[in-house]
Amino acid sequence: MTEPDLATLSPDAERMWADIMELSSIVDDASPGWSREVFSEPYKASREWTLARMRGAGLETSIDAAGNIVGRLPGLDPNAPSIVTGSHTDTVHSGGRFDGIVGVMGAIEAARTLQESGTRLTSDLIVVDFLGEEANDFGVSCVGSRAIAGVLEPGHLQRKNRDGVSMGDTMAAFGLDPHAAVSMAWNPRSVKSYIELHVEQGPMLETAGNEIGVVTSIAGIERLMAVFTGRADHAGTTPMDQRADALIAAAEAILTVERVGCGAPVHGVTTTGKIATGQGAFNVVPDSSTIWAEIRSIDPSWLTGARRRIAEQIATDAAKRGVGVAIDLLNDQDPVPAAQSMQDTVAAAAGSLGLNWAAVPSGAGHDAAHMAHLGPMGMIFVPSRGGRSHCPEEWTDINHLRSGVQVLAATLMRLDQA
Ligand code: GLV
Ligand code: MN
Ligand code: MN
Repeated sequence: MTEPDLATLSPDAERMWADIMELSSIVDDASPGWSREVFSEPYKASREWTLARMRGAGLETSIDAAGNIVGRLPGLDPNAPSIVTGSHTDTVHSGGRFDGIVGVMGAIEAARTLQESGTRLTSDLIVVDFLGEEANDFGVSCVGSRAIAGVLEPGHLQRKNRDGVSMGDTMAAFGLDPHAAVSMAWNPRSVKSYIELHVEQGPMLETAGNEIGVVTSIAGIERLMAVFTGRADHAGTTPMDQRADALIAAAEAILTVERVGCGAPVHGVTTTGKIATGQGAFNVVPDSSTIWAEIRSIDPSWLTGARRRIAEQIATDAAKRGVGVAIDLLNDQDPVPAAQSMQDTVAAAAGSLGLNWAAVPSGAGHDAAHMAHLGPMGMIFVPSRGGRSHCPEEWTDINHLRSGVQVLAATLMRLDQA
């Protein structure tokens, strides 16, 4: 393959930074940090802004039934399969300014750069702002990329939030077409490859002093909800050995979740992200409690074993306390390796730019995991300061963003020529 002429490509990191900061002003002002959760008013407003930015970058835009904002930069050959890139602009509650946003603004900047340098790809370049990547109140993540990949199912639409409202009804109220969303999968033949720029969200790159991460694999995610049912009793008169305390059973379960995570071989993690109790009072033994936990790893066999061990241990421990437990297990996604050809292309692009790169796994979930159903998938990581993410402190230096978008643009050219 001839080396692409990278000298002609110079993405404008300051312009991309300005876009990131401007988008970060469209958030829920009542919450600390940056909150632009899927289906919220700020998210709705921000989507108009993103659509306008894509149009301003010379992309032909459309919004599909699942709410993905799609921008197309036509290539020279209308029959060639497309090169797809993008990420998401929704955030977790009180999150940061970079998770997902970097991949969308980086893709827009790469599209501008290609046009300004007079570079015309053979393939169409498709930029996607995928709807709702973060796990939502219905327990569904990556709504838009699942729809494009053909793995959004009617069962997802029926999932209900705590108020008993279904995700399908919520999508419809947001102006989307949920029923069309479950049958709008792209034809894999239309996709040449998928590449996503993202912040690492962990500490590996910064710790090792690397500028670029070449993602090897995206962790699988198993979720577990355990509802404990005990017995309410007087907290002053009920002897310690005669209680069925649902909150203590939940506390013990949380430690079980942690213990199994600590025993993981490599890159396995477990988290209990939320706990809720019934009414709750100083002086009443709790009769109900619920925990929401996650198990993640790039190793499928550890993941399956860890899920089983956690569920069995929680049930055994609760029974010893006379507490009932109903455990709901949910597979969010299996581990997904990045295509070796994509890892090689990203590494070659980074190397040709003289950047330090390292092969790293992703513990975070990404739209890329679903886009891998359609064609070879790869990801480019840039460092996160202190490894922080999903919090207001999330930060990536502009110099790292510059390197990231340079690698993205160079990778797009290499993929086009491959
Ligand atoms: C998304 O950021 C996830 O990994 O949950
Ligand atoms: Mn993300
Ligand atoms: Mn995230």
